[in-house]
Amino acid sequence: MIEEREHWSSSLGFVLAAAGSAIGLGAIWKFPYIAGQNGGGAFLLIYLVCVAIIGMPVMLCEITLGRRTQQNPVGAFRMLSPDKSHVANFIGFSMVFTSVALLCFQEYGWAVFILIIGGLIIRYGWTSAGILSIVTGFVIMSYYSVVGGWTLGYIIKAFQGDLNYVTEAAAANCFTSFRDNLAWAIPMHIGFLLICALIIVRGVRNGIEKWSKILMPILFVLMVILILRGLTLPGALKGVSFFLSPKFSELSAKGVLTAMGLAFFTLSLGMGAMITYGSYISREQNIFMSTLSIVLLDTVIATLAGLAIFPAVFAMGFKEAAGPGLVFNILPAVFNSIPGGLGWLWAGIFFILLSIAAITSEVSLLEMVVAFLTDELKWSRVKAVWTAFAAGALLGLLSAVSIANWSNIEWLHQILVKTFHIEQKSFFDMLDNFSSNWLLPLSGIAISIFVGWIWSTRKAVEEIRHGSHNFADVHLISLLAGLKDDPSHNNSKYHVLTLASLWGIFIRFIAPIAVTITFLHEIGWLKLK
Ligand code: PHE
Repeated sequence: MIEEREHWSSSLGFVLAAAGSAIGLGAIWKFPYIAGQNGGGAFLLIYLVCVAIIGMPVMLCEITLGRRTQQNPVGAFRMLSPDKSHVANFIGFSMVFTSVALLCFQEYGWAVFILIIGGLIIRYGWTSAGILSIVTGFVIMSYYSVVGGWTLGYIIKAFQGDLNYVTEAAAANCFTSFRDNLAWAIPMHIGFLLICALIIVRGVRNGIEKWSKILMPILFVLMVILILRGLTLPGALKGVSFFLSPKFSELSAKGVLTAMGLAFFTLSLGMGAMITYGSYISREQNIFMSTLSIVLLDTVIATLAGLAIFPAVFAMGFKEAAGPGLVFNILPAVFNSIPGGLGWLWAGIFFILLSIAAITSEVSLLEMVVAFLTDELKWSRVKAVWTAFAAGALLGLLSAVSIANWSNIEWLHQILVKTFHIEQKSFFDMLDNFSSNWLLPLSGIAISIFVGWIWSTRKAVEEIRHGSHNFADVHLISLLAGLKDDPSHNNSKYHVLTLASLWGIFIRFIAPIAVTITFLHEIGWLKLK
């Protein structure tokens, strides 16, 4: 070992950093508008169920993998993979055959693509699941930074007084012209990524942990200020009741699956971010409690974001199910309609909050790539950070340029259309679709199957119990029945249904099945209304 691995200075440091990763555009931007489109309170309820039965178990699973191996996702899978895996070989060879079949249909682009992945799986076995998660993380990092750049740009615009419109149409106009103006979009994207790189180049403790401890409390305070403002507006209660009273008639099966996918995204699961952060935890810490705290913080913030947004939206008479434009298009207009002026201030506060949330999430994505480069290629941290920064900035640039206008990079557009026959609104949309709908769930399925069936829940639970055995061993039946857990009965026959064994069931069965169903739905093979 060349250098000792850095560790978080305390559980709190880890929880705040991981909560920072989780709380991001997903919780504050996506969650409210998706809830708005799917029946408000009903969606919230389903979302909470998904978080509890899938999000929590998978998060514990990733953190356990990280802490056990003290490695980046690729190293983690490699360390725990068996030498030979029939499952991996089976999947690999099936992909090779699929690729040959595709050749017959003259789908050359896809044939080569699938052949490469099949080859990777045959060559590297389960380690390729780690590779998949690094790739997913990198791709998301690149376009997440473009949206992060918009949030930064909107802070500036708010304080300059440029967001002073009161109609939705004017707001939408302002947003598209901002987004499509490359003189803004590009510097903001690069500036956003630069802030993140500057944070993590200082290291885990002095960079990520220190800044999470500063930024996360600020985020909470800003959120509370906005909620108080929203709730004290006349007519705000309609918004609260929309958000909290469940309208099940508006919730569809599709909504349920959307909730599941969203829970995965907002908890930063399925791409090794939590494996990476978990690898900086020392073995004395209680990861059961940490997981619970991270999940609770993320869920509370998502709920609060709804409470900060909907009352104001209703009070000012805007449409609740506004879609992705909700925060960029409608909110500034909403803030400007608030009596008493100061719309710029409320908008400014909101976009600072959104930027903080986005920065701490982007940091975890960048750190994952950096951990891979330092662990696997033995690069220095500085070299790894700046290389990852440059690569992310470049790929993100393509997203930023393409969302303004595909024809800005017509060559890439043509290549993608000709080789893969995919037509999307922009490169940005393509990457977003591909990573959220394909890569994320696939690597989520791989992680839970790996821990549940290959590495084995027995070894995982052994790891979890370090530092948290009084949790892992809580006997659920005794607990629910109000009987004290009797240490004199501490034999395995008594302790069949402990929290840890319940977790094992979720990881082996519930999580992979639920994520597979979501995946099939998202890629359109399972059609639900
Ligand atoms: N959880 C982040 C959000 O809600 C997104 C993210 C996903 C960040 C995966 C890191 C890793 O915006």
